[in-house]
Amino acid sequence: MSDPSDLRQGKGIHTTAVHAGFDPAEHKGAVSVPIYQTSTFAFPSAEAGADRFAGLDPGPIYTRLGNPTVEALERCVAELEGGCGAVGTATGMAAVSTVLLALLRQGDHVVATHPLYGPTSTLLERRLAAFGVATTFVAAADAVGLAAAVRPETRLLLVETPANPTLDLVDLDVAAAVARDAGVPLVVDNTFAGPWLQRPLEQGAEIVVHSMTKSLNGHADVVAGVVVARRPGLLAVCRDAAKSYGFTMDPHQAWLVLRGIRTLGMRVERAQRNALALAAWLERRPEVAWVRYPGLPSHPQHDLARRQMSGPGSVLAFELAGGLEAGRLLMNSVRLITLAVSLGGVESLIEHPASMTHKGVPASEQLRQGITPGLVRLAVGCEELDDLQADLAAAFAKLEVAEPAAIVER
Ligand SMILES: Cc1ncc(COP(=O)(O)O)c(C=O)c1O
Repeated sequence: MSDPSDLRQGKGIHTTAVHAGFDPAEHKGAVSVPIYQTSTFAFPSAEAGADRFAGLDPGPIYTRLGNPTVEALERCVAELEGGCGAVGTATGMAAVSTVLLALLRQGDHVVATHPLYGPTSTLLERRLAAFGVATTFVAAADAVGLAAAVRPETRLLLVETPANPTLDLVDLDVAAAVARDAGVPLVVDNTFAGPWLQRPLEQGAEIVVHSMTKSLNGHADVVAGVVVARRPGLLAVCRDAAKSYGFTMDPHQAWLVLRGIRTLGMRVERAQRNALALAAWLERRPEVAWVRYPGLPSHPQHDLARRQMSGPGSVLAFELAGGLEAGRLLMNSVRLITLAVSLGGVESLIEHPASMTHKGVPASEQLRQGITPGLVRLAVGCEELDDLQADLAAAFAKLEVAEPAAIVER
C-alpha cells in the first residue's frame, strides 16, 4: 500500500474523498470500484499460492483476510484520517473490539473517558473485566484526572470526543501527552466528528476507530466500522486480530460505504450548517432549558472545539424544560424528523435517552452518564432548514397543549 500521507500531499480533502482508494487503470478503467463479490480467490499456481500465504505476493487469498473492494475503502479512509493504513470491520463495535482485543492481555489496565458509547462501556466493564482487564473511567472534560488514572499496568488510553450523548469534549492534545508520558497508545473513537472535522492522528493519537455506519457512509443503509493506524506496527497487530476474530467486512458493505464517502464533505457541511442554525434557534425557545452544541459559545468547551475541530458537527443535545414527559411527547409529535437512534446520515434523527435507550438504566446511573430527564439528542441531516424548524415548532406546540391537560388529569 502506498503511504497515504504521500498520496494526500497537495490534495484538498474534498478531492481525497472523491478520488482516494483505487486506481481505475487497475480495474479495467472502472470509475466506481468493482464489487469483488467472492469468498475466495484462485491462485495461478501452487507456488503463487504459497507466496501469497507467505506475504511475498500481496494478491488476495480469501475475503475474510482481504478483498480488493474492502482494500479500496481502507485506503480511502486511511488517507482521509492521515493514517498509514486501515482495517475495515463488520460494524463500529467490531472496530472497537478489534483494537481492545488486539492490544490488551489479562492483568492490563485501560484509562477511558466517560461518557463512552454504551456498548463500548459494557465491553470494558463486563466483557473485558471477565478476562482480567480493568478500566478506570475519567470524565471527558477532566484533563487532570486522565494523568492521575494512569497505573504501571495501563496499556492504552481510550477516548471519545465529542462524547455520546452529552457532547462533552476531550482535549486531544492533553490526552496525547498523557499517553506519550505513559508510553501507551491513545485510541480515539472519532465517529461523532469524522475525519472531515477532526483528525486525531495529526494530534498524536496512534489509532482512530469509527462506526462508518454514521457520517462516513451517511445513508442509513449499512453498518460498518474501521480501525485506522498511524504506524505500520499497530496496523499489523489490529489487522491480524480482525482476521482471526472474524471482524472483517464484506465487499458489498465496503462498496456502499465508499460510495457514501464520495459526498462526505457536502453532506457534513450542509448538515453542520443546519445544526448550527437549529442550535441557535433552540436556545431561544421557551420549551428548551439549555442546548449543548460545540458550535455555540454557551458550550463549556467551545474554545476547545474551535481549537481541535474544524467544525462543530451535526449532532446536538438539548434539555426540555418539561423533563421526562415533555421528552416522550416530543418524540411522539415530530413528523419529518425520524424517531430513531443513529447519527451522521442525510436524514435527521431524534431520540430521548431517558424514555428510550436508557429507560431501564437506574436514574442515578443515568445522571452519572449525564442523561437528564429531558435530554434530547438531535442528529441533524441535510433537509431544508425551514422544514426541520417547522417540524420542531409544531411538535413544541403540542407540548404546550398537553401540559395543562396533564395538570387537569391530576
Ligand atoms: C461513538 C460510537 N462508537 C461506536 C459505535 C458503534 O457502531 P456500530 O453501531 O456501527 O457497531 C457507535 C454507534 O452508535 C457510536 O455512536
